[in-house]
Amino acid sequence: MHTAPVFRAAREHRSPTGGEATTVTGTMRISEGRPVVAGFFEPRTFSIQYVVSDPATRRCAIIDPVLDFEENAGATATHSADALLDYIRGEGLDVEWILDTHPHADHFSAAGYLHDVLGAPTAIGAEVTRVQTLWQEIYNLGDTLATDGSQWSHLFAAGEAFRVGSLDARVLYSPGHTLASVTYVIGDAAFVHDTLFQPDFGTARADFPGGDAGQLWDSIQAILALPEETRLFTGHDYMPDGREPRWESTVGEQKAHNPHVAGITRDDYVALRNRRDAGLPMPRLILHSLQVNTRGGRLPEPEDNGRRYLKIPLDCLDARWRG
Ligand SMILES: [Fe+2]
Repeated sequence: MHTAPVFRAAREHRSPTGGEATTVTGTMRISEGRPVVAGFFEPRTFSIQYVVSDPATRRCAIIDPVLDFEENAGATATHSADALLDYIRGEGLDVEWILDTHPHADHFSAAGYLHDVLGAPTAIGAEVTRVQTLWQEIYNLGDTLATDGSQWSHLFAAGEAFRVGSLDARVLYSPGHTLASVTYVIGDAAFVHDTLFQPDFGTARADFPGGDAGQLWDSIQAILALPEETRLFTGHDYMPDGREPRWESTVGEQKAHNPHVAGITRDDYVALRNRRDAGLPMPRLILHSLQVNTRGGRLPEPEDNGRRYLKIPLDCLDARWRG
């Protein structure tokens, strides 16, 4: 395989409120047929947003953009998404797609905001309609939440092919963490979000409504069946032992070093995953996030006083009090 020079982009975007920094340290390799991948770490929710671009055509896709939310004040902001826009403008890129890998449970998607700014189509996996139905019931939303996926420009079927510039891309259906999770494989890069994390951390949880540890194992195996040198980009990094955030690995590295896949069986994994998930509290923003993310990353419509509200259902999840 042709290997081109490697360089790193490092930028810092400091929010006007002074607190938060979003750092770009995406590894960029330019060579024929390989996308340039810029990762933007969002420290509040340990999320990585991506801009993946085709160097030949300067066309790109945004993956898993974050709409900032500060729950104490109920405040939303677009600092993280605006950092993507700064990068896109600086690099002279055209945005072809605004993609989400799944309806996130720990942060709001900025897909709706970016669609309004850029006009580019939004997309997510087609099984999102099942997630909408599940959460429509939990939130008692009735007709106020359409459950046909019409909030997105396009719903991807399992295995569907698409393009980013001249790069071939396709959708792997990757359920387990959620019913609707997909992996985007774009050139030699796969955006795996909440399946595999970095090899020194493990894998995503599978205990949200609609989650299943066995399905997650099967999805992970399908990702690990990609060529060994495939670059894997994860959706979160929790910085074990205080190390710097990282988000890139390869199929080969995951097979060799990830303790949740290396040398264990499906049964071992399901037992390990379920045991581990039983000790985890629900994500801080799960009840806030799902009512935004099942709307395609849009806040609920304003009420008659012009204000928007989130609804918090009580005692609806497997509410585990953990002392
Ligand atoms: Fe997630």
